[in-house]
Amino acid sequence: MTIISPSILAANFLQLQSEIERLEKLPNIWLHLDIMDGHFVPNMTFGLPFIKQIRKVTDLKLDGHFMVTNPEFYVEKLDKDDLYNFTFHLEATENPTSLIKKAKEKFSSVGISIKPHTKVELLTPELLEQLDLILIMSVEPGFGGQAFMPESLEKIKYLSPLAEKYDFQIQIDGGINDITAKDAISSGAHNLVAGSFIFKEPSFNYKKQVEILRNQ
Ligand code: DX5
Ligand code: ZN
Repeated sequence: MTIISPSILAANFLQLQSEIERLEKLPNIWLHLDIMDGHFVPNMTFGLPFIKQIRKVTDLKLDGHFMVTNPEFYVEKLDKDDLYNFTFHLEATENPTSLIKKAKEKFSSVGISIKPHTKVELLTPELLEQLDLILIMSVEPGFGGQAFMPESLEKIKYLSPLAEKYDFQIQIDGGINDITAKDAISSGAHNLVAGSFIFKEPSFNYKKQVEILRNQ
């Protein structure tokens, strides 16, 4: 079953607990947390205290997407149980192998993300072997609500046979809706991040939105 990772970036932050509760009973959900530092990306969101508070109010698997210049800091400061998955950007580190190793000591799952203009071939077999997840950005990171970049599907297709060989999952993030979800899944994505499509549903029927994405 395709994993759906609602991104709280599009949720109502002032009523976050009830927003999260609407997702609690749904199967195969990860809660996607976009950590932005105003340096790696122009926008800023939240950091350590906020992640730890979310951890206290939900048992959902927390999926940290670190759009920051210093992912090492977060690996050091977070506790084992704070996140299920830790994803950092390939563009943000000189030594991804060492960071993966440190992150693997703490978290059940460790991923690397690449921006739309980063070549997928930079993900060497050595890296793929160590990783649990590859996150393909289908928009420029920094903001929700942007249009899906169809070129990202080529990266998914390239990774699809490698995902079997090296045993990792392929996640896609940005502009996912009822139409783009279908293309992402048929190209080989296992895990869809979606912000606006889920949290902007006016009647709060997030279950329906999740099912639409999954059953394309
Ligand atoms: C963008 C973030 C995404 C964002 C997706 O930098 O990484 O997770 O919340 O939002 P939508 O689904 O609205 O494109
Ligand atoms: Zn994200």
